Amino acid sequence: MKGVVLAGGLGSRMYPLTKVTNKHLLPIYNKPMIYYPIRTLVDAGIDEILIVTGGNSAGDFLRLLGNGKEFGLRHINYTYQEGEGGIAAALSLAEYFADNDKIVVILGDNIIEGNIRGAVASFRAQKEGARILLKEVSDPQRFGVPVFEEEKIVRIDEKPLTPASSYAVIGIYMYDHRVFDFIKTLKPSERGELEITDVNNFYIREGKIAWDLLEGWWTDAGTFDSLLYAGGMVAKTGANKLSAED
Ligand code: G1P
Repeated sequence: MKGVVLAGGLGSRMYPLTKVTNKHLLPIYNKPMIYYPIRTLVDAGIDEILIVTGGNSAGDFLRLLGNGKEFGLRHINYTYQEGEGGIAAALSLAEYFADNDKIVVILGDNIIEGNIRGAVASFRAQKEGARILLKEVSDPQRFGVPVFEEEKIVRIDEKPLTPASSYAVIGIYMYDHRVFDFIKTLKPSERGELEITDVNNFYIREGKIAWDLLEGWWTDAGTFDSLLYAGGMVAKTGANKLSAED
């Protein structure tokens, strides 16, 4: 299975921090943000990784990460996204890299306390479809929110004003090769982006999505407040632990 880190975008929600650099190069405690999602993939046994970057300072990723030696990798793949088109648009650039394989996609600003080994192992065993991860949060209206009928997710609402549950769909997604066909049929949302939530809703309509609850804390780091929170949590407990005892 291959991994894709989405680290593009102009980071306009975080001006002026991102006026001259890429959001995913900003510090989270003692490391650049992008270190954490790469570590999440590597810890789950994924060693073929593509980084989709864009906007400012794209060349700095190469200087910072090189071939990924610090993560025990021998090679990292890179691609460049022109402008901003949303998460699904960034992911479409990974079609050639994926080469019909299953993929694990992680947003470059998503940081977790634990690991995704269990979910990735389940997805390896899953014949087809998609797999998402959920976390209970106090502010679901900021995220994609699953709508349940008993244990089954029947829909995901993107940033709903009145959330149907208290769960967020976190920015770690697992897809079979059909994801790229789905993306090709998407139309931009009200915020002018190709939404990953619309991709997930395709799989839900086909009855081919599975989900797991993530253990340990999770946060994005894409707003001033969540960037501060992420740094504090990493300083306090550490991130990307392999087990509860770590
Ligand atoms: C994106 C997704 C949203 C998801 C979130 C996780 O939101 O659209 O569904 O819950 O990432 O970090 P965005 O960061 O684009 O606001």
